[in-house]
Amino acid sequence: MITNGSQQCLDLIGKVLLGRGDPCAIERPGYLGAIQAFSLFEPAFVPVPLDAGGPEPGALGDAARAGARLFYGVPNSQNPSGTTWSSERRREVAAALEGTGTIMVDDDAYGELRFDGPARVPLRALAPERTVMTGSFSKILAPGIRLGWCVAPPAIMPHLVTAKQASDLHSNTFAQQVAARYLASIPVDDHIARITGVYRRHRDLMLALAADLFPEEVSWTRPDGGMFVWLTLPAGCSSLALFETALKSNVAILPGLPFYTDGGGDRTVRLNFSNADEASLEEGMHRLARALAGQLRSAP
Ligand SMILES: Cc1ncc(COP(=O)(O)O)c(C=O)c1O
Repeated sequence: MITNGSQQCLDLIGKVLLGRGDPCAIERPGYLGAIQAFSLFEPAFVPVPLDAGGPEPGALGDAARAGARLFYGVPNSQNPSGTTWSSERRREVAAALEGTGTIMVDDDAYGELRFDGPARVPLRALAPERTVMTGSFSKILAPGIRLGWCVAPPAIMPHLVTAKQASDLHSNTFAQQVAARYLASIPVDDHIARITGVYRRHRDLMLALAADLFPEEVSWTRPDGGMFVWLTLPAGCSSLALFETALKSNVAILPGLPFYTDGGGDRTVRLNFSNADEASLEEGMHRLARALAGQLRSAP
């Protein structure tokens, strides 16, 4: 089903699968837009900790056995942490959900923006009967065109279609025609290779500058695609305070707090490397490093 951006899929999935108090498992940290979309249906969020390989299968199994209606995750180059689930972890996630009533929601907004290594198997291939997969044209074409999609098993799709019709009857057909004709008129794979080439260079620059400039107590992820690097600040630092200081020198960062459904995350920060050009990235990282050093000096 074509939707009004993939964000609409999250709203529709919430409408179909979530009611007040229903357990809803989600990565910790998790995509803020999903937390916002699902929150309207007042579920009881069950955070599943994310490590470098993906969500912890033990915690996910517990959530599924406790009746989670769905487990929402971004297995490729996650927003916000940049994490990609390993192949092994994908199989473990599918195994943890097997035989339970929990639906996997695989949000693949960043799957095409891959810099390193081969593409990983989508969850839909491992658990076709229980996976809803969503995707977006925003990251490869233009966010303003508001086109996304979802693929769902036969038991779920009719409900999503009904919810979609009640929301907006259908997605903008003019925008779909424009996107279809444009994509048919260009070598899409070359286009994706070009933008991933630019983003890869930006990522490499950001990581190299972080290694050169950031105090050694700060740690960060090394995303293999997507748009984000995730920082963890040392004890005593606050991402909100860093946000205030960095903003005074015209550098925008995103404090990690809103990506946590259970509090915490106050020492985490999301950095975006896709948007700014290389000169601005370099200058921004220098300014951020100065703000970080200032925080560390004043930390208790
Ligand atoms: C993980 C994730 N899912 C979904 C979306 C929504 O994208 P759109 O509605 O533009 O397709 C975003 C946008 O940033 C995202 O990061």
